[in-house]
Amino acid sequence: MKVLIEKSYNKISKKAAYLVKQQINEKPNSVLGLPTGSTPLRMYDELIEMYERGEVDFSKVITFNLDEYYGLPPDHPQSYNYYMWNNFFDHINIKKENVHILDGMTNNIERECLEYETKIKNAGGIDLQILGIGPNGHIGFNEPSETLNDKTHLVTLTEETIEANSRFFDSKEKVPEKALTMGISTILKSDKIIIMASGESKASAIKKTLSGQINTCTPSTLLQTHSNVTVIVDQGAAIYL
Ligand code: PGA
Repeated sequence: MKVLIEKSYNKISKKAAYLVKQQINEKPNSVLGLPTGSTPLRMYDELIEMYERGEVDFSKVITFNLDEYYGLPPDHPQSYNYYMWNNFFDHINIKKENVHILDGMTNNIERECLEYETKIKNAGGIDLQILGIGPNGHIGFNEPSETLNDKTHLVTLTEETIEANSRFFDSKEKVPEKALTMGISTILKSDKIIIMASGESKASAIKKTLSGQINTCTPSTLLQTHSNVTVIVDQGAAIYL
């Protein structure tokens, strides 16, 4: 894995945005896999600024989001659908039909997940997948577990993730207990992967991602099996490297 250690959160955001811009400029109809959470927010701001300066054109870009809370409607302020439109898509020239986000209100989970896999395949696969990482090493909502479901599926969130994400909700009880997520093999099939992390709370997960034993109890260690991963971390997330 290629590791880029940057001085600050702003710098990792600029670096990641630059690599996304480069990908789109090389292949205007790129298929991107996109994350939510606090880490990519500044990267999305950077990309919006690049778009406004005419440096990048999203008109042919296709996107697939990594995950979505199960049971939240798309207009719920904490849904990832709302997050993506509010923080990114509404500010660039992406076509609505090119945006794909799992439907957290589906009444047929199996069909929703299967169709998502098919849509990714029909789009030609993901060219560039951008990931955040949980302090427990989860990627997407693939939580530490003895076994992992490799395709897009429904997961039960761990206490740790519910706790970590409760900062976005009025109370911990309001955090959905389940989510839909791309699976590990869905992620690993991407041509290129960028993983971003900021702050000391991610340092241990980043250390394990790079050099820990590969196992499903730290899902991010499975990235070691991929041949084109770039890890972009700030100094906080790099303290154990
Ligand atoms: P964060 O979440 O960017 O909000 O820290 C990342 C994740 O949990 O995958």
